Amino acid sequence: MTYDEIRYAFLEYFKSHGHQIVPSASLVPNDPTLLFTVAGMVPWKGILQGTEPAFAPRVADVQKCIRAGGKHNDLEDVGFDGRHHTFFEMMGNWSFGDYFKEGAIEMSWELLTRVFGLDPNRIVVTTHYSDDEAAQIWKRITGKDAILLGDKDNWWSAGETGPCGPCTEMHYDMGDDLPGGLPGSADEDGGRWVEIWNDVFMQYDRDANGNLTPLPRQNVDTGAGLERFASIMQGKTDNYDTDLFVNLKRAVSDVTGVAECPDNTASFKVITDHLRSVGFAIADGVIPSNTDRGYVIRRILRRAMRHGQILGHRGALLSKLYPALITEMGAAYPELAREQDRVVEIIRNEENSFADMLQNGMKLLENEIPNLNNGILPGDIAFKLFDTYGFPLDLTQMILRDRNIDVDVAGFEASMAQQKERSRADTRGTRIFWETQTELPSTDDTAKYAPTEMSSTVLSILRDGEFVKTANAGDVVEVALDKTTFYGTQGGQVGDAGELRRDGANVMTISEAGRVDNVVIHKGTLTSDLSVGDTVMPVINSAIRQQTARAHTATHLLQAALRSVLNEDVEQRGSKVSPDSVRFDFRFGRPMTAEEKQSVEDLINTWIAADMPVLHEEMSMDAAIARGAMALFGEKYGDTVKVITAGDVSCELCGGTHVHHTGEILKARINKEKSISSGVRRITMSVGTLAE
Ligand code: ALA
Repeated sequence: MTYDEIRYAFLEYFKSHGHQIVPSASLVPNDPTLLFTVAGMVPWKGILQGTEPAFAPRVADVQKCIRAGGKHNDLEDVGFDGRHHTFFEMMGNWSFGDYFKEGAIEMSWELLTRVFGLDPNRIVVTTHYSDDEAAQIWKRITGKDAILLGDKDNWWSAGETGPCGPCTEMHYDMGDDLPGGLPGSADEDGGRWVEIWNDVFMQYDRDANGNLTPLPRQNVDTGAGLERFASIMQGKTDNYDTDLFVNLKRAVSDVTGVAECPDNTASFKVITDHLRSVGFAIADGVIPSNTDRGYVIRRILRRAMRHGQILGHRGALLSKLYPALITEMGAAYPELAREQDRVVEIIRNEENSFADMLQNGMKLLENEIPNLNNGILPGDIAFKLFDTYGFPLDLTQMILRDRNIDVDVAGFEASMAQQKERSRADTRGTRIFWETQTELPSTDDTAKYAPTEMSSTVLSILRDGEFVKTANAGDVVEVALDKTTFYGTQGGQVGDAGELRRDGANVMTISEAGRVDNVVIHKGTLTSDLSVGDTVMPVINSAIRQQTARAHTATHLLQAALRSVLNEDVEQRGSKVSPDSVRFDFRFGRPMTAEEKQSVEDLINTWIAADMPVLHEEMSMDAAIARGAMALFGEKYGDTVKVITAGDVSCELCGGTHVHHTGEILKARINKEKSISSGVRRITMSVGTLAE
C-alpha cells in the first residue's frame, strides 16, 4: 500500500464507524505553549479539556506534525536511523465523550489485523501498570497479556500541562533477524519492535503544579505514524525506503547529481525530511526568522543546506526540491501547490542569503580545527560562526559531531550574553538606564489602566547622559518615579504623553513615556527645577490616551476582520499603535484586492457602529488559552495575563490600553496596504477623528 492508499484506508475505516473525517489542521497551533502542532490532538485540546464544544462525537483525520525545537523534539536524531522525522503525518481517531477504552481498542485491533492485514502474532501491546481495565480488554479481545509499563512509556500529554492520561501502545515485530528487544526492555530501541499506534485515554487535566483533575468527559486520542505504517505495509525496515521517500530521494539525486550510497545516505534522509518540515511549515505561514518557530525552520533549512554541501552541492536546494514534494504529497495537502510561489520564493531567498555564509563559515571552521585543544571548539569561535556566518549552534555541533569535536556551549552562551548587552547599550537612547536598571527599582505602574491622582517620588533624573541630583528649567531629561499612571512604550503601543505637576503647577512636559524593562522612563522638558526626592503628580494627557486606546482596540478589530475576510490563518507579525496611526504587519502571501480592503474596513466600521462592549479581564494563562485568546508567540506572558475581548469578534492577550465600547473608536480608515518582506504585508490605518 502506498501512502495515499494507507491514508485513504484509515479514514474510510473510521468513516464507516461513524467518524466525521476532517482535514489536517495547520502546523501552527492556536496555542502559545507550543511551537508546532506536535500531535494529532493539538487542534482538539480545547474539546478534550471541555472548554470548547465538540463538533462531533467521533472524528478522524491525518494530521501534519512537526517535532522540532520543543518538548517533543526529534531534530538531532534525523539521519542516524530509519525512524526519526521532524515532519510526519499522524493518523488518528477521537472520541469526545463517546466510546472509551473498549471501543478504541476494538477498532484499533480490527483495523490493524483485518483492514491492514497485519499478523496478530507479530503485535504486542503495552498498557500503563495502573490501567487494569485496558489490560483486561486486550486479554478478552486478543487473548494477549499486555506488557505493563510506567509513565515514561504509557502516559501521554502534549505539554507540561493540559489534557493527559494513560495510554496503550501497539508494537510490531519487524522480524527476528533484527536486533532489539520487547518494549520496556533494555534494548527496546534495537529496531525489531516498532511502536505503530498509541491509544491515549484522556481522563485528566494536569495543572502547572502537576495536580490531576478528572476531565468532564472521558475521551480517546489516538496516534499512528503514517511513515511507520508505510514501512510495515511495504516490508521495509527503514521509513526512508518507502515509496514517498524513495521518490523524494530520487529528486535529491536529480538536483545534486549524486547517487545515494551507504556513505551519504544520512544526508539523503536529512534533506528529504527537512524538505517536508520546511516546505509544509512555510506553506502554513511560518517565515524563517531569528525567533521561535521561525528560527526552528531557519535552523532546519540551514542543516539541509549543509547536507547538500556534503553531497558537493552548492546553493539553493530545498527550493528546487519543493516541486517534488508537491508531486508526492500535493494530492493529500492542496495547500502545497496553492502556496507554491510564495513558499519557493521564501525558501530561495533564505537559501541565497545563507549560501555564501555557509562556504565562508566552513572555511573559518576548517582553519580552526587543527588548532583545537582536547577536541573542543571554543565558545567565541562558535559564536563568531553564529553571529557573522549565521551558523545556528546546533548546525556547528552537527558538523563537528562527525569529527568527535564538542562545542564549549557555556562559552558560546557567555559570548552571546555579552553581545546582547553591547547591542542593547548601543541601540537605546536611554543607555544609562539600561546599564543601571538593576539598581533602579521597578516602577509601580499598576495605575496605568485606570489613572488616578497620585503622589510620586522622583527616583532619578538623567540629563545629557548623566544622572544628576537636580536639573533646571529648560533641561531635556529622562525621569524615573517610584510609581506612575503613565503607560511606558510596550507591546507595540507608544507610551503616554502628559506632564509632571508639583503643588498643582507643571514642572515637566512629557512627550513620551518609554520603558526599560520594568522601569518607566518619562522623557521631556523641565519647566522648573526638579530634584531627586521631589514629590510630583504624574498626569497623563487623556485626549492622547483616548486616541491611543481607540487605535489599539481598532488594531484588534483589524486582525479579526482580516481573519474573517482573508482567512483564519492571518497572523500578526508586529504592530505599532500610536495616537495618530496604526501600523499592523501580518503574514499573507499576496497583495489584498481593493474589494478585500474595503470589506475589511467596512467590517471594522460595522463593529464600531454596533458599539460592542470591550471587556478588560485578568485571568490565568490556562484560562486565557481555554477562552481561545490569541497570543503573539514571541511575547513573554506571565502566569496572570490580561485578556481584551471585543464583543464576540475578538479575544486577545494584551497588556495595552483599550476603549470600553467599540463605539468610542468612532471610525477606522485603511490608508495603505503593502509588502514589507516576502509573505508579510503591512496595513496602515487611521482611527477616531483622524479617520473622519
Ligand atoms: N497523542 C498521542 C501521541 O501523539 C496519540 O502519541
